[in-house]
Amino acid sequence: MDILKKIEMFREEEEKLRWEGSFADYLQLLKEKPWVAQSAHSRVYNMLKDAGITEEKGTKKYEFFSNQLFGLEESLERLVEEYFHPAAKRLDVRKRILLLMGPVSGGKSTLVTMLKRGLEAYSLTDRGSVFAIKGCPMHEDPLHLIPHHLRKDFHEEYGIRIEGNLSPLNMMRLEQEYGGRIEDVLVERIFFSEDKRTGIGTFSPSDPKSQDIADLTGSIDFSTIAEFGSESDPRAYRFDGELNKANRGMMEFQEMLKCDEKFLWHLLSLTQEGNFKAGRFALISADELIVAHTNETEYRSFISNKKNEALHSRIIVMPIPYNLKASQEERIYEKMINESDVSDVHIAPHTLKVAAMFTILTRLKEPKKGDVDLLKKMRLYDGESVEGFNMADIDELKKEYPDEGMSGIDPRYVINRISSTIIRKEVPSINALDVLRSLKDGLDQHPSITAELRERYMNYISLARKEYDNIAKNEVQKAFVYSYEESAKTLMDNYLDNVEAYCNKSKLRDQLTGEEINPDEKLMRSIEEQIGISENAKKAFREEVLIRISAFARKGKRFDYNSHDRLREAIQKKLFADLKDVVKITTSSKTPDEQQLKKINNVVARLIDEHGYNSTSANELLRYVGSLLNR
Ligand SMILES: Nc1ncnc2c1ncn2[C@@H]1O[C@H](COP(=O)(O)OP(=O)(O)OP(=O)(O)O)[C@@H](O)[C@H]1O
Ligand SMILES: [Mg+2]
Repeated sequence: MDILKKIEMFREEEEKLRWEGSFADYLQLLKEKPWVAQSAHSRVYNMLKDAGITEEKGTKKYEFFSNQLFGLEESLERLVEEYFHPAAKRLDVRKRILLLMGPVSGGKSTLVTMLKRGLEAYSLTDRGSVFAIKGCPMHEDPLHLIPHHLRKDFHEEYGIRIEGNLSPLNMMRLEQEYGGRIEDVLVERIFFSEDKRTGIGTFSPSDPKSQDIADLTGSIDFSTIAEFGSESDPRAYRFDGELNKANRGMMEFQEMLKCDEKFLWHLLSLTQEGNFKAGRFALISADELIVAHTNETEYRSFISNKKNEALHSRIIVMPIPYNLKASQEERIYEKMINESDVSDVHIAPHTLKVAAMFTILTRLKEPKKGDVDLLKKMRLYDGESVEGFNMADIDELKKEYPDEGMSGIDPRYVINRISSTIIRKEVPSINALDVLRSLKDGLDQHPSITAELRERYMNYISLARKEYDNIAKNEVQKAFVYSYEESAKTLMDNYLDNVEAYCNKSKLRDQLTGEEINPDEKLMRSIEEQIGISENAKKAFREEVLIRISAFARKGKRFDYNSHDRLREAIQKKLFADLKDVVKITTSSKTPDEQQLKKINNVVARLIDEHGYNSTSANELLRYVGSLLNR
């Protein structure tokens, strides 16, 4: 469908949603849809909830964030449970400014932007609809019209609690335009839009000397004073500050801690009492979520200043550390690349994974638990099974450093290095080695990396490189076997038949001649040796495998090639060991003969068809693996 058509349809949709009526009509509507009167915080919470919540390994996952923020499930769960949920229930936290604290490029701005765009969309839905006094620049809550002495009765009848006072402007309008008849005041449905400055605002501090508080709370319109006679006439005031405009929705306060104190004091009153002072008027009630963000250094220096104490107690700080899961980090890069101009460049398989490994290693802290190294820790965090460790170990590891993820390499750095690799290479194809090299070169230019840190990061580059070597070898060797899965399965079945006969002290039958034969000890050992099982340990290993098979059978599950990690590893290594010489000779031959050439072409074709390479990256991979095997 063409875009103009879509725009028209969207306009029609919005037109259909419009609603306008008297306050009396609005009360009628509230009887049917009491949620319409919810507070700003409650609306945000319901928006998050309505998008869906799933649970994974004991952590709640908010679908609202899931297509743009990766690996932050635990922080987001905490954010919702400790801030949005209680705030929605009108608990005290809603009066605090929400301050997201985290390292650079850790997704703070992304999170806030998602909330803003989310609210805009949510206000178009039934559950998220918002109503306001018509013509009010602050989209004031119509229920403020109900006088204080009647609010208790209102609560009894409608079950809705009212907070806040009617603003000076609407107080005057009520008298002058409606002759004091509350029931006649016009109410309309509003739709949040940052562009139209309805319900969504952003404040970013500029030069402290020239910045005017009016940016936050509006200002006197001197051109109208002559008309209205006095500065304290609310009609002579322009309620167009960010705090005014964000009423009912949310305001993002960028770089809050860099802001001048006088600005912060305004916020203080707003967050404490739910109202702020503008011009010469009585306090103006506001109902909005205020979100700010900062990094750790800035935050530390802010709280170390005694003068900020009062403000500090009105802020609720939520840490947003870096993602610590390699697989999720890979998704972040994919997303960032898709959003960029280089999205058509071929990125060889495993490239982003290897870069992500390096990044995660820089963010992790050295485990105190003796038997875990950093690589194992990375795997465990990512939900991979590591022999000898379980879920409880992961919790224990996490408890060692509750503030993990506040430092390390940021995703933007990685994306910048990937971009520069792409630009430098001139071929529209990059691989893991290109990226690792570029990450390494970039460390010299990185302003915040000390010599000591640089050395540590160099080590992580080598670790990631070693991981890549294994991945690359595996990939090529797999591609050499005509059908890898099938060969692995055949070999395993063969092994298991022999193991069974061995343990039961029985014989096998030769498939061809029907003769009875002894279990093939040589075959079994050649597989077991691959994973270092000694002659003394072989019996126990074989019995363990059989027990595992019968346990599977009892549960009605099929035991297959993937059911036993160590056995799988042994089978794989055995297959590759048999192949090694062929791979080595084929990939490194300078003058391949006809047969080798055919083999190479087949392997390249398989890498392209089944593993996601293109011909450049497949050939690069083969050459690299050839050189590895010849070392
Ligand atoms: N956990 C994550 N999931 C998805 N994307 C992420 C994540 N962390 C960072 N990003 C991506 O990294 C980039 C930088 O993130 P963003 O600007 O939100 O960070 P920030 O915390 O606001 O950084 P700064 O402190 O520099 O303002 C964005 O493209 C963002 O999408
Ligand atoms: Mg930011």
